[in-house]
Amino acid sequence: MSVQKVLKMGEPSLLLPSAEVVDFDTPQLRALVSDLYETMEAYHGVGIAAPQIGVNQQVVIFGFESNPRYPDVEPISSTVLINPTITALTDKEDLYWEACLSVPGLRGEVPRWTKIRYQGFDINGEIIDRVVEGFHARVVQHEYDHLLGILYPQRIRDMKKFRFEETQAK
Ligand code: NI
Repeated sequence: MSVQKVLKMGEPSLLLPSAEVVDFDTPQLRALVSDLYETMEAYHGVGIAAPQIGVNQQVVIFGFESNPRYPDVEPISSTVLINPTITALTDKEDLYWEACLSVPGLRGEVPRWTKIRYQGFDINGEIIDRVVEGFHARVVQHEYDHLLGILYPQRIRDMKKFRFEETQAK
């Protein structure tokens, strides 16, 4: 178990769809989740998806108490989400400056549904089924996209809203 290298945009495997997890509660799955946690913490992320460390399986983790990268958002309980599906519960979207460990140093304004239901499994194969809003909904949509092979810059509608972090957001 160790901090893994985070693949950056341009790595072809980040653009591939990930395979479903078939076996739960295995040493391999526990090792993968442990690596994801160590890597997310080392990079100060609020979420990370397995393909970002080179494993194209449908496993994401997310959650935080507070995070300096997103100082103005509510906390999210720590979650391991496997084989997820997402259902939009509204047509309403909002815009927010997203970042991604695979796109270091940049931010982009990305539209996401404001309210979703997400379903999937935890590491033991127990069902997860939640209705969430706001930043929680955004994080899940971002991580889910990684499992489809989509990075957030592909979701930006106005490319004028894509910038380096050290510049001033307008
Ligand atoms: Ni990301």
